[in-house]
Amino acid sequence: MNNFTFYSPTYFVFGKGKETEAGHYVKRFGGTKVLLHYGGGSVVRSGLLDRVKKSLEEEGLSYLELGGVKPNPRSGLVYEGIELCKKNNIDFVLALGGGSTIDSAKAIAAGAKYEGDYWDFYVGTPIKDALKVGTILTIAAAGSEGSGDTVITQEDGMLKRGAGSECLRPAFSILNPELTQTLPSFQTACGSADIMAHVFERYFTNTQDVEITDRLCESILLTMIKEVPKALKNPNDYEARANIMWAGMVAHNNIVGVGREQDWASHDIEHELSALYDCAHGAGLAVIFPAWMKYVMHHDISRFAQVAVRVWGCNMDFAHPEVTAAEGIERFKNFLTSIGLPVNFKELGADAKDIPALVEKLGLGESGTVGNFVKLTSKDVEQIYRIATE
Ligand code: NZQ
Ligand code: ZN
Repeated sequence: MNNFTFYSPTYFVFGKGKETEAGHYVKRFGGTKVLLHYGGGSVVRSGLLDRVKKSLEEEGLSYLELGGVKPNPRSGLVYEGIELCKKNNIDFVLALGGGSTIDSAKAIAAGAKYEGDYWDFYVGTPIKDALKVGTILTIAAAGSEGSGDTVITQEDGMLKRGAGSECLRPAFSILNPELTQTLPSFQTACGSADIMAHVFERYFTNTQDVEITDRLCESILLTMIKEVPKALKNPNDYEARANIMWAGMVAHNNIVGVGREQDWASHDIEHELSALYDCAHGAGLAVIFPAWMKYVMHHDISRFAQVAVRVWGCNMDFAHPEVTAAEGIERFKNFLTSIGLPVNFKELGADAKDIPALVEKLGLGESGTVGNFVKLTSKDVEQIYRIATE
């Protein structure tokens, strides 16, 4: 196991009806004037926005609102949010929604404490300070409720890029599984693929002797395989929703990734798909991850065979472990299909003729690489996109 530090200071409030305590937690973490940030309207329709406003009013907290975050959140709205915060002395950004809204809130929080153009953060400038952020999560997926990461799409050129800082970890996150019961099945499935992908990005590692985090990763995957079909069959299954919601948090706050090299090539390769086609991130991952697995499998057959046996229930073929490894990938792909996700370019609505443009936008050039398990060049990435068309 590698040396590591792990600091995950977010205060989690989990359970039914907990959003009515939002005002209490904003106050507890020092907020006095709040920006309420949300997406395209699901929080209005569900009544969540009204419940949260009432809770803030009960605590005597003033607030402004900025809705309209789109999935794959755009840079333009972030500028608007920063302006609002600076002009009105906002000191707390409260995100109501999924990863897109939370990421947009984090960008606003960092930009509000910065004199320059906040896009600098997404091209390498470190984030040193930010307003406090709180979240009320409505979809189990990105894990942004427990992470210090934010992903924004620059509208000029549709470049989707990430940034991260410890200061962006939310001060608190309210997780009420009931709020996820209004999700369309497709969004539940997309979120689930993202959660599983966050585990795989950590699971496929060159670091040896990481039994504890291997086993934690496997337990999240097994939980998803059991609970996601239940939530799809009965969207109001609170216990299934609760298990998936907490799985989404632990899959990405890095408790299962510490002490080991992580990969993240599939995420970067996917981000080009969601930037170009504006598809759901989880749907893009369902197309890319099995293709990536097929391409890199031979780098460490025993690790792929291990997950096939421990997670996908395959029998170990000791004479031909590559057969077991390949069967595990096939079962993963079948699982994604069974929950209603696309698993190739055609099903996603992507076009093979765009592959050169996707590779180009990833920006690896002649000598750059992406990922760690196997360091992939532009040529490798092109092959992975090609496998994803099958
Ligand atoms: O905008 P509204 O009306 O709220 O509708 C949303 C949106 O259309 C809807 N939705 C959310 N909760 C709902 C609901 N509809 C009905 N009932 C509910 N309870 O679902 C749609 C998708 O929402 P979005 O926030 O985009 O989903 P998700 O949480 O999957 O976030 C995706 C974004 O997160 C980024 C992705 O790249 C993508 O941009 N990621 C962020 C990460 C991070 N910050 O740590 C890591 C991830 O790997 C990921 O890259
Ligand atoms: Zn993701």
